[in-house]
Amino acid sequence: MKGIILAGGTGSRLYPLTKVTNKHLLPVYDKPMICYPLDTLVSAGIDDILIVSGRGHVGHFLELLGSGSEMGIRLSYEIQEGAGGIAEALGLANRWSDGDDIAVILGDNIFEDKIKESVNSFDSGAKIFLKSVADPQRFGVAEVDGDRIIGIEEKPKAPKSDLAVTGLYLYENSVFDIIKTLKPSGRGELEITDVNNAYVGKEQMKFSVLDGFWSDAGTFESLLRAGMMVKESREKRN
Ligand code: DAU
Repeated sequence: MKGIILAGGTGSRLYPLTKVTNKHLLPVYDKPMICYPLDTLVSAGIDDILIVSGRGHVGHFLELLGSGSEMGIRLSYEIQEGAGGIAEALGLANRWSDGDDIAVILGDNIFEDKIKESVNSFDSGAKIFLKSVADPQRFGVAEVDGDRIIGIEEKPKAPKSDLAVTGLYLYENSVFDIIKTLKPSGRGELEITDVNNAYVGKEQMKFSVLDGFWSDAGTFESLLRAGMMVKESREKRN
């Protein structure tokens, strides 16, 4: 399985921190943000990883991470010219993916859980990772019945559960055919939730619920919380 980190977008919710740099280069406790999703993929045994980011900042990622050889992996880079959504950014990885299954992670998502088992046991369709949260209306929210996903709503005003869809997705390569059929949402973006609902509709979506902490880091509140969570988990381990 290959890995993709999506690190485009405008970071407008973190302005002015993102006026001169990319959101995913900002510090989360003691490392640049992108190092956390990178570590999630690498610790799952994924060693061929594509980073998708905006034109102005791709050189900064290259300077930070280089070829990946220091980490024993191969890094590649792709440019998303606009900020047309998570699914648009993912679509740019089609040719690079070369028919393989892919693990996709959002560059502003910090996970404590390891995903090696899920990666190793992935066989077909798609898999998402859910986390019970206090503020589900900020996220994609899954409605679940036993071990079946009934549907996912993007930022619902009245969430049907407290299960946020985290920014980590495993897909078979058919995901790129689904992306080609998408239409922009109300906010003008190609939505990853529409991709996921396509797999839900085909009864090909699996899920697991995460045990460890998870946070996005795309707002002032969540950026601070992510740093605190990393610090606490580091102290617990030492
Ligand atoms: O954090 C998890 C949530 O991420 C999910 O629960 C939602 O279903 C999903 O839509 C997404 O929600 P956000 O609205 O918070 O996503 P945001 O626009 O902040 O983008 C998250 C990351 O995706 C960002 O750090 C970089 C990448 N991205 C985003 C856009 C819009 C791109 O690479 N290109 C883009 O055009």
